[in-house]
Amino acid sequence: MRTLTLPTRILSEAVWTRIFEHCELRFEQRRKSFFTQMAELDSLRTQADYDTGSVSAATCWAIYSVANYFAPQEIVEVGTFIGRTALSMAQGTEDAGVIAEIHTCDASNGMELPQPLKCSLIQYPRQTSTSMLEKMRSDKHDWQIELIHLDGRLQDRDVDSLKLMSALNVVLALDDFEGIEKGALNYSSIRASGWLKSSVLIYPPERRVLERFGLQGTCTTALLVPSSLIALTNQ
Ligand SMILES: C[S@@+](CC[C@H](N)C(=O)[O-])C[C@H]1O[C@@H](n2cnc3c(N)ncnc32)[C@H](O)[C@@H]1O
Repeated sequence: MRTLTLPTRILSEAVWTRIFEHCELRFEQRRKSFFTQMAELDSLRTQADYDTGSVSAATCWAIYSVANYFAPQEIVEVGTFIGRTALSMAQGTEDAGVIAEIHTCDASNGMELPQPLKCSLIQYPRQTSTSMLEKMRSDKHDWQIELIHLDGRLQDRDVDSLKLMSALNVVLALDDFEGIEKGALNYSSIRASGWLKSSVLIYPPERRVLERFGLQGTCTTALLVPSSLIALTNQ
């Protein structure tokens, strides 16, 4: 008998479809205020020491949806910049009924972000990922990070720290997962370390998947989802 193989490309479409479907009602309720807030964050650029790229509106909703679907309590982000993704994760978890703690650092910038309504957003301005993770580890020993968003380039010691601080079922989101951009490089560092061996790579959602859910533009966010969090259901 031949095994029924499921290519990652097909699985990726199914995973993003499931995640976006879960948030469809929220999209109707939230779209105006959510995308207005994301656009308004652009004004923080005037305070930037290093004025760089942020993420697309479609990426904001993808990150919102990942946070809303998995409902993590402890979140770490590398690459705060103007805070679109940090605040997307804040809104996504709040809408899931979770009061999350989000730790986010930026090596080159230090803008103060608007505070989310309920969850705690802890910024590490002008600090590298290595110094944020070391500070977190010195403050508390029993971290159970459930969602990691990488929108900066990991440094040498970061994978070891993240491995020690993460829950077994941690979900990882990698921005700029294309070519030899930072998402692909971070993915290689993680794979080379042997960490998250049993997690499945979910490619960024294709444009036609985004369009089906009313999202324009592109999203380059890939996910590493533990296989233990993936289950077949009858519906
Ligand atoms: C693409 S921007 C992040 C965009 C942000 N997520 C948003 O929603 O606006 C990348 C930022 O990550 C920062 N960065 C890159 N590598 C880093 C690292 N290892 N530690 C801390 N910050 C880092 C850069 O300084 C830059 O400001």
